[in-house]
Amino acid sequence: MQFNFDEVVDRRGTGSVKWETFSPDVLPLWVADTDFPVNPIILKRIQERLNHPVLGYTLVNHELILAVQNFLYTHYQWAVDEAAIVPMTGVVPGLNFSCRAFCKPGDGVLFQVPVYPPFYDAPRNNFLEAQTSSLYFDKENNSYKIDFDEFENSIKFNTRLFMLCNPHNPVGRVFTKDELSALADICIRHNLIICSDEIHSDIIFSGNHHIPIAALSPEISRRTVTLISPSKTFNIPGLNCSLAVIEDEKMRQQFVQAIKGLSNGANLLGQIASCSAYSECQDWYSQAKKYIEANRDFLEAYCDAALPGIHMTHMEATYLAWLDCSESGIPSVPQEFFLNQAKVGLNAGSTFGAGYERFVRLNIGTSRIILEEALDRMSESLKKL
Ligand SMILES: Cc1ncc(COP(=O)(O)O)c(C=O)c1O
Repeated sequence: MQFNFDEVVDRRGTGSVKWETFSPDVLPLWVADTDFPVNPIILKRIQERLNHPVLGYTLVNHELILAVQNFLYTHYQWAVDEAAIVPMTGVVPGLNFSCRAFCKPGDGVLFQVPVYPPFYDAPRNNFLEAQTSSLYFDKENNSYKIDFDEFENSIKFNTRLFMLCNPHNPVGRVFTKDELSALADICIRHNLIICSDEIHSDIIFSGNHHIPIAALSPEISRRTVTLISPSKTFNIPGLNCSLAVIEDEKMRQQFVQAIKGLSNGANLLGQIASCSAYSECQDWYSQAKKYIEANRDFLEAYCDAALPGIHMTHMEATYLAWLDCSESGIPSVPQEFFLNQAKVGLNAGSTFGAGYERFVRLNIGTSRIILEEALDRMSESLKKL
């Protein structure tokens, strides 16, 4: 079946964070959900459940667990036991739960920057020290890389947990087997637990291949919590369902114990939608990925042709583009300039790390016509500088 990702759906009036935070004349390309209508089969499964009028407390949906297990094996050749899969409400809660489960107050939590802002919050929320290692920009390859010496030197006497973001938001990297192996070796050497946020693992562009870090070896898996969710890929983040995959039983017990009383598990309808997403949406998924990849190519070409001084980092994955505006001549912070002069809503680079004040993050998970209109507005605003 063919799905129409060009369709423009009016999301205003639905309580959408993305569409209802800015004034109605703004085109919002910020918060990380997409504007694509959900695959009708997912909606059908939810509606079928709603034929029953009672929405009480729910058990873990066993079909969801089997669907996750099968999806991980089919897509990443990662075979995990059913018992390893723990449903939760969200990946951000999973980052916070990992901090609680594996650290004691005063311990350090390391992550690579620039990064999705909740990575900074998770240690702070839990009275832990946020510790950063910097990804560096490799100009020749137009891509961010890891300096492994710098990474290892960022580990302090109190570092206990490494929170990895792979694929990486906002720099769009899919870390390679060699990179992941080197990171894991360092974590083993320093006895760090790894919490790997792999929420973007399914939106990977041609020529790249996602590897769950825990799938590299049993030794690595024994120290790793992997956080996944169909929410980004299948556009169901409002349904609050994600999964932690923890193969080591002792670690899993520690994690489950730490979240007692804080999480009631995943949402009833979210579990149904996630089960459907993982098990019966392959054609929708392939087409969505192709559409987003074409938007990536379109944006890359557009930047070169009509956004002078704006430099786009090459995206290997995700629907989040990372734009360096430092040579654009924009006199103020760029997200404010584009909001006020172009009526386009973007994420501020500063929220991803110090030193990124001249960057913006732009969400390409939308119909081409909206993307094009937003870029035309941005281009016109730059002409007036
Ligand atoms: C890297 C990353 N992790 C987690 C999330 C959010 O996860 P959740 O909505 O499941 O808490 C996002 C959303 O943008 C993200 O980009």
